[in-house]
Amino acid sequence: MRYAWTLILYILFHILLKPRNSPRAQPKNTHPCKTGNPIDDCWRCDPEWHNYTNRKILADCAVGFGRNATGGRDGEFYVVTDPENDDPIDPIPGTLRYAVIQEEPLWIIFEGDMVIRLKDELLFNSFKTIDGRGAKVEIAGGPCITLSYVTNVIIHGIHIHHCKPGGNAMVRKSPNQYGWRNISDGDGISIFSSAHVWIDHCTLSHCHDGLIDVTYGSTSITISNNYMAYHDEVMLMGHSDDFLLDKNMQVTIAFNYFGEGLVQRIPRCRHGYFHIVNNLYSGWEMYAIGGSANPTINSQGNYFIAPNSNSTKEVTRRINSLENEWKEWNWRSIGDLMLNGAFFTSSGNNNSQNYVKASSMFARPASLLTTLNVTAGVLSCQIGYIC
Ligand SMILES: *[C@@H]1O[C@H](CO)[C@@H](O)[C@H](O)[C@H]1NC(C)=O
Ligand SMILES: *[C@@H]1O[C@H](CO)[C@@H](O)[C@H](O)[C@H]1NC(C)=O
Ligand SMILES: *[C@@H]1O[C@H](CO)[C@@H](O)[C@H](O)[C@H]1NC(C)=O
Ligand SMILES: *[C@@H]1O[C@H](CO)[C@@H](O)[C@H](O)[C@H]1NC(C)=O
Repeated sequence: MRYAWTLILYILFHILLKPRNSPRAQPKNTHPCKTGNPIDDCWRCDPEWHNYTNRKILADCAVGFGRNATGGRDGEFYVVTDPENDDPIDPIPGTLRYAVIQEEPLWIIFEGDMVIRLKDELLFNSFKTIDGRGAKVEIAGGPCITLSYVTNVIIHGIHIHHCKPGGNAMVRKSPNQYGWRNISDGDGISIFSSAHVWIDHCTLSHCHDGLIDVTYGSTSITISNNYMAYHDEVMLMGHSDDFLLDKNMQVTIAFNYFGEGLVQRIPRCRHGYFHIVNNLYSGWEMYAIGGSANPTINSQGNYFIAPNSNSTKEVTRRINSLENEWKEWNWRSIGDLMLNGAFFTSSGNNNSQNYVKASSMFARPASLLTTLNVTAGVLSCQIGYIC
């Protein structure tokens, strides 16, 4: 059954998305590495991407509401050498946990391929970049990443999967502070009361709760170029219907590839302003974009391929609300491509001023998406070559 489904999607993907004029997705610009994806074009053409000066160029390549996230750009490099000895209370030098709790900005890279199985949530301090380029780095099999009351974090090029709840334990969050953590949700990346965060080119799947959840007054977030697959509740934006601090939330979701085995919440939004732009949806089991509590949703230049079942062709879903309520919510679709019967139910005023706050970047035509986000997820970058 799973195999048949995979095969259907595979065939659909190849029939429907194959660029018309060329057998392979060949970029048309003069530089062979230029794809039209503004984030990637900013750094991927540089064969010297790995050198210490050039790695930090990435920090100035973000687009959307998280574009000002500086991460560890203004700090030193820190090389993670030890994937094994995770100590949540007294992190050991050389481990990822030791690096992310430090007070000063740090640009964190990895000595080589590694699988990091954490004993508890990885609590970040502010001004950190984790940059997996040049190594295959997996955070998997234990609790995963939590950004709680921090700013300026960039997470790039990391595999995050099979994340489990942590908690009922002490966890350190800075060199001079640790505290009790209740049971955590088991998210891949949980962004809680945090701002200026950019998650780019990660591959996420199979977590206990969300793959990326953004809650509790978080804002100024960009989630771009990620590959997500095999997961039920993919992305939750907003803590609860009556948590009004999320009214200021602004999130950009761009150039992601939502692949096989996703069920719902891609994303599920509450309050706030959401620019969902130039993503490729190869299917969903229940719905793609949903929400409650009057979020503003600006869906632009996406490529939606509906699943085959007639009951799930609708991209959108309103949750816990009656039509006379949700018909006022501002949800619009501009330039989205709808395949295999996909349809988007708009509501509200198409020209509402709210959309100014849900607009964060220039959208490319959805017809270009094969070349724009065909390399979503972790890239395998080799030293000395364009990535
Ligand atoms: C890093 O790249 C820059 C610019 O391409 C170059 O000037 C510099 O010499 C390189 N540094 C090293 C250590 O390779
Ligand atoms: C980014 O920084 C610029 C310059 O300080 C500012 O004008 C802009 O509002 C900021 N944007 C976001 C989304 O944080
Ligand atoms: C942790 O759980 C306890 C008991 O349920 C609760 O009183 C406390 O507020 C929780 N702490 C946090 C930070 O959520
Ligand atoms: C909604 O507004 C956008 C931007 O102003 C416009 O491009 C689009 O055609 C409008 N759609 C409808 C259905 O009026």
